[in-house]
Amino acid sequence: MTKFELKKITLILSPGEIKKAAEIIRSGGTVAFPTETVYGLGANALDEDAVAKIFHAKRRPADNPLIVHISSREMLNMVAMDIPALAFKLMDAFWPGALTIILKSKDIVPDITTGGLDTVAVRMPDNEIAISLINESGVPIAAPSANISGRPSPTKAEHVIKDLTGRIDAIITGGDCRLGVESTVIDLTHSPPSLLRPGGLSLEEIISCIGEINVVEDSVKSPGMRYTHYSPKTRLILVEGEQKPALSRMSRLINEFREQGLRVGAIVSRESSPSIECDAKYVLGSVDDLKEVAGRLFSGLRFIDEAGVDVGIAEGVFPEKREGREIMNRLRKAAKEKVICGQ
Ligand code: TXA
Ligand code: MG
Repeated sequence: MTKFELKKITLILSPGEIKKAAEIIRSGGTVAFPTETVYGLGANALDEDAVAKIFHAKRRPADNPLIVHISSREMLNMVAMDIPALAFKLMDAFWPGALTIILKSKDIVPDITTGGLDTVAVRMPDNEIAISLINESGVPIAAPSANISGRPSPTKAEHVIKDLTGRIDAIITGGDCRLGVESTVIDLTHSPPSLLRPGGLSLEEIISCIGEINVVEDSVKSPGMRYTHYSPKTRLILVEGEQKPALSRMSRLINEFREQGLRVGAIVSRESSPSIECDAKYVLGSVDDLKEVAGRLFSGLRFIDEAGVDVGIAEGVFPEKREGREIMNRLRKAAKEKVICGQ
């Protein structure tokens, strides 16, 4: 916050106070709420001034469009048009759930929500609190992840409180997010569709529903992929490769830094944890339980900043299938430095 910005009073609301939260949304305010993926920072998607408050609170670049959260097919028809048959197939299979689809936008959606594109990103979240908030508000809710831009996405109410207190009107506390990684984003405005961001719904599940799709990860088509993401403030190095060589490389790196008098933190798999000696350690989970690792990933990235270390080392040895794809995608974006070993 700059010196001249006024601090807002941020209400901390329980899930029983949805009506109060919906009143804030209807009157043009900002409310953070839980979803099954990560916490979102919501405002009325059709109200330009309300959406502007999201960009301001997060310090988000204006050309990065938001996902519009809906609770019914009627709301879908309010914001999107020319919806292809494939979209209905995906919605029937995976909504409510961790799938965001890009469709042709209707004029009612302001430019600020779509980043000036003629398309709109839409998702129906699989979380009771989120759905009741949208229902009670009676409007589609635009919501990016409820973190300061560039920081790891929030998977616990405490993460939101830490990043956004004083910058938004309210936070609904709803426990830990079930999946812990953001939704998968698919562009359905072209044929075949393309995957713009791997996420909570796996590519394998999507392919089993609609067949092969283009994987154009990091494409300029998803403006959000251009920016720094998920980064701790602390220097972070990702060590990638087979587990055995990666482990010995990590140990060597840790020793080198400690010999220089630096404190070192590590984010590691359960299997490697006993062999890693460092100043602060966060165990993500087993390489055989990628769901667990995905759920703990953003907390692990935040841990590196909280542990009072000079440098963090992350173990990037998760197989790139199912949840492993989004885990490696987020780790690579979070770490500015990478060491690839064992090839
Ligand atoms: O799980 C999630 O998706 C969470 C929860 C809160 O729903 N939201 C979330 O929003 O991750 P955000 O803003 O952090 O990420 C939205 C992504 C960005 O990469 C953005 O560029 C892309 O979706 N996006 C939004 N509208 C788009 C559009 N019209 N065309 C292409 N990409 C779009
Ligand atoms: Mg985000």
